[in-house]
Amino acid sequence: MVPDRRPADMVRITTPELAQVFIDEQIAAIREQVGDKKVLLALSGGVDSSVVAALLIKAIGDQLVSVHVNHGLLRKGEPEQVIEVFRNQMKANLIYVDATDRFLDKLAGVTDPEVKRKIIGGEFIEVFAEEARKLDGIEFLAQGTIWPDILESEDGIKAHHNAGGLPEDMDFALVEPIKILFKDEVRVIGEQLGLPHGMVYRQPFPGPGLGVRCPGAITRDRLEAVRESDAILREEFAKNGLDQTVWQYFTVVPDFRSTGVKDGKRAFEWLCIVRAVNSVDVMTATPAQIPFELMEHITDRITHEVPGINRVLYDFTPKPTGTVEFE
Ligand code: XMP
Repeated sequence: MVPDRRPADMVRITTPELAQVFIDEQIAAIREQVGDKKVLLALSGGVDSSVVAALLIKAIGDQLVSVHVNHGLLRKGEPEQVIEVFRNQMKANLIYVDATDRFLDKLAGVTDPEVKRKIIGGEFIEVFAEEARKLDGIEFLAQGTIWPDILESEDGIKAHHNAGGLPEDMDFALVEPIKILFKDEVRVIGEQLGLPHGMVYRQPFPGPGLGVRCPGAITRDRLEAVRESDAILREEFAKNGLDQTVWQYFTVVPDFRSTGVKDGKRAFEWLCIVRAVNSVDVMTATPAQIPFELMEHITDRITHEVPGINRVLYDFTPKPTGTVEFE
């Protein structure tokens, strides 16, 4: 049996051998809990839900139904990677829902950051619940709750974001196989389960996704500019090894235009802000030092490759006074 709470003397899982012991214990525990019933999982492609999916696939195969909701605010290549890794490689029973239009229609014209977040969160639950209702015989809901989530909700720091939000008539029993683990342990387990390194060690990414990096009312063209500039930044950071040293990095394209010149003509276009920060506990953060030549190269690529952008700025603001995200 796997304990409900992290034992005070539990050895930190740092090696493949320790990871394998945990995986074997969990597989047995999941099989015992679930029997021949079906389990539902919202698979975002983030570290925690991906590791839970991989564990459950090993334990119960296609009794696990994973639902990947694309809210249209994911980074370039993310939904494709989820489909490739889970459906094609791991043979998961995966339902892919492209809800882009639904989300973007609901968000059209909405400028208030908190309202935007509420719409994205609420719509996500609605789409997920709709998919759940189409399925027969689901008795369990799997969640990527980890130990810090439980500690923080007990301390009243934040509501236990994983614990539901689903309509009240959908009261599934919970399967939470990584709930006694710290994040670094989840990553070791993920690698041992064969998930791609880039998926297991990816930088933090907010639930509302690129929506909070497209300040003001989200439009499809500006959202595309955020997605494309982010892809260029990630590519250049990876090429130059900064993905290994910088904690979080992304681009922001506010709803603001400035005058520029492109191909000898006036270009009244958006600006793109590069944000790159280091942090230990996310309560504070400092701007990362990026080589000047690399910033020049990134600026050149973004202004020439991303339609609608004629300027690139670097955000030097630590947290406080700025938060990491813009909204
Ligand atoms: P802030 O902007 O508050 O961000 O300094 C701190 C860290 O949290 C991430 N973040 C979120 N993560 N849902 C999430 O899962 C959210 O709504 C959310 N908002 C911010 C942010 O990317 C940073 O790593």
